[in-house]
Amino acid sequence: MQLGIDTPEQMAELGARLAVELRAGDLVALNGELGAGKTTFTRGLGGQLGVRGSVTSPTFVLARTHRRIGDGAPLVHVDAYRLGSAAELDDLDIDWSASIVVVEWAAGMLEGVAEHWIEIDIRRPTGAGVEIGDGDEPVETRLVTITGHGARWHDLRLD
Ligand SMILES: Nc1ncnc2c1ncn2[C@@H]1O[C@H](COP(=O)(O)OP(=O)(O)OP(=O)(O)O)[C@@H](O)[C@H]1O
Ligand SMILES: [Mg+2]
Repeated sequence: MQLGIDTPEQMAELGARLAVELRAGDLVALNGELGAGKTTFTRGLGGQLGVRGSVTSPTFVLARTHRRIGDGAPLVHVDAYRLGSAAELDDLDIDWSASIVVVEWAAGMLEGVAEHWIEIDIRRPTGAGVEIGDGDEPVETRLVTITGHGARWHDLRLD
C-alpha cells in the first residue's frame, strides 16, 4: 500500500491510525533516510497509545521504553542507526512478546526476529516542491509504502 503524506501532521496521524491496530508482540520496522519522518510517525503512534514521556529521537539511547498511561503493552522505540548488527539488537534484551516495538533504521536488522511485522518505508520523491510550514520548517510530501508481513498483517489497510 502506498500513500502520499503531505505534512508532518499527516505523518503523525498515520502513526496514530496504525497504533489502534497494535498489541503486545507487534513490530513496526521504519526505514527512510535522515529526516524522512520516522520519529514524527512514531510520535503520532505513541500519542495514540497514550504513552508516558514524549517520543523523541532515541539517538543517545539505543532503545527507550514508554509505559502506557492506561493499561496495555509498553512501546519500545529503538533507533538502530548505530547498531552494527542484528546481534547487537539482540543484546538490548527487548521483551518482544510483551511490547509493541518500533524500530527506526530497521533495514537488515530484523531477520528472524518476528513471524509477523509491518514495514514502513518513507521516501522523499525527488522534485517535490518544498514549502515552508507554520514553524518555519520545510514541509514536503513523503511517499509512504506500508507492507504487512505474515498472516497477522495479511489484510492490513490504513487508508
Ligand atoms: N510530509 C512530511 N512528513 C513528515 N515529516 C515532514 C514532512 N514534511 C516535512 N517534514 C519534516 O521532516 C522532519 C522529519 O524528522 P524526523 O525526526 O521525524 O525524521 P527521522 O526519519 O526520524 O530522522 P532520523 O533519521 O534523523 O531519525 C521534521 O522536521 C518534519 O517537520
Ligand atoms: Mg528519528
